[in-house]
Amino acid sequence: MYHSKITGLGFYVPDNIVTNDDLSKIMDTNDEWIQERTGIQERRHVIRGQDTTTSMGVKAAKIAIERAKIDTHDIDFVIFATLSPDYYFPGPGVLVQRDLGLRTVGALDVRNQCSGFVYALSVADQYIKTGMYKNILVIGSELHSTGLDMTTRGRGVSVIFGDGAGAAVLSREEDLSKGILSTHLHSEGQHAEELTVIAPGMGKRWVTDIIADNNPDDESYFPYMNGQFVFKNAVVRFSEVIMEGLQANNLQVSDIDMLIPHQANLRISQFIQQKFKLTDDQVFNNIQKYGNTTAASIPIALTEAWEQGKIKEGDTVVLAAFGSGFTWASAIIKW
Ligand code: ACO
Repeated sequence: MYHSKITGLGFYVPDNIVTNDDLSKIMDTNDEWIQERTGIQERRHVIRGQDTTTSMGVKAAKIAIERAKIDTHDIDFVIFATLSPDYYFPGPGVLVQRDLGLRTVGALDVRNQCSGFVYALSVADQYIKTGMYKNILVIGSELHSTGLDMTTRGRGVSVIFGDGAGAAVLSREEDLSKGILSTHLHSEGQHAEELTVIAPGMGKRWVTDIIADNNPDDESYFPYMNGQFVFKNAVVRFSEVIMEGLQANNLQVSDIDMLIPHQANLRISQFIQQKFKLTDDQVFNNIQKYGNTTAASIPIALTEAWEQGKIKEGDTVVLAAFGSGFTWASAIIKW
């Protein structure tokens, strides 16, 4: 029996900054509306042809691997969380195996949207705990901008999301007081259609229709979100899954040194912070700069918090996510 420990972190975002004012030039929106409701000031969008979900993930992974002080040949397994894969199939895990020149190790794709990174971490943790693998590369990467409806019709959703990637190397830890202490995963599929992209799922993709009537404006290709319903469920589930993790480890809210919530919406993070009476030093947010990058948001935020010296050895770090599915998850980590 071992524990797993995060030994390297990295993130990558495209250089291209898109401000709220930039969006207001292409759709009927404004900086005040976006900031008031979401806290977002700007986000990154890839320049067409310069990056993909996989390439961003690979760039983040290279940094994480270097910081873990291991060689790519030491990686035993890859887990890639995304809702925006380069291809419908195969998933991006195998593309990482190819592009990083890894041994022919296993590559697994996780499709749990905003909770994807915590789900991926949980899977990796189990493999390391049992002794099956020693070093696992876990990536969360998203390319939203090419799939959003960037007209006024899509403004309720498209202003929220941004592109980027984060990665972590998880390695075997023999000291059982350190590393990932526990993970907690949940789903409630009855709300699947409240936050969804329907096409090109096979339930929608009747190829004969596409050949007969190739309709690029088909709204089923765009994300749909019942925003207020998502908001209400998110604050409840975030709170529950954080408490579940703390209780499983006999910890109190006051023991949290750093909470990294999935960067869904700054108002959701602030609600959780107030509910648990956490100080500004105990919660990390960077949605202001990057928007909601779904599966990438936690590893990007975790990396930035660590780079800024806000996470130190011995700290209790809590990761918490909620998103489409609905799925929600937490991880309790002793750094
Ligand atoms: N700019 C200006 N006006 C807008 C915009 C925009 N970008 N988007 C919508 N509006 C308008 C609407 O058309 C509507 O106008 P109307 O009253 O004339 O009909 C008005 O603003 C209010 O629209 P609502 O959708 O009711 O706005 P709401 O206050 O609910 O805010 C928001 C929308 C920000 C999406 C909110 O519901 C929310 O934050 N929900 C949580 C969603 C979220 O965080 N999702 C991500 C988490 S899950 C995940 O990460 C996958």
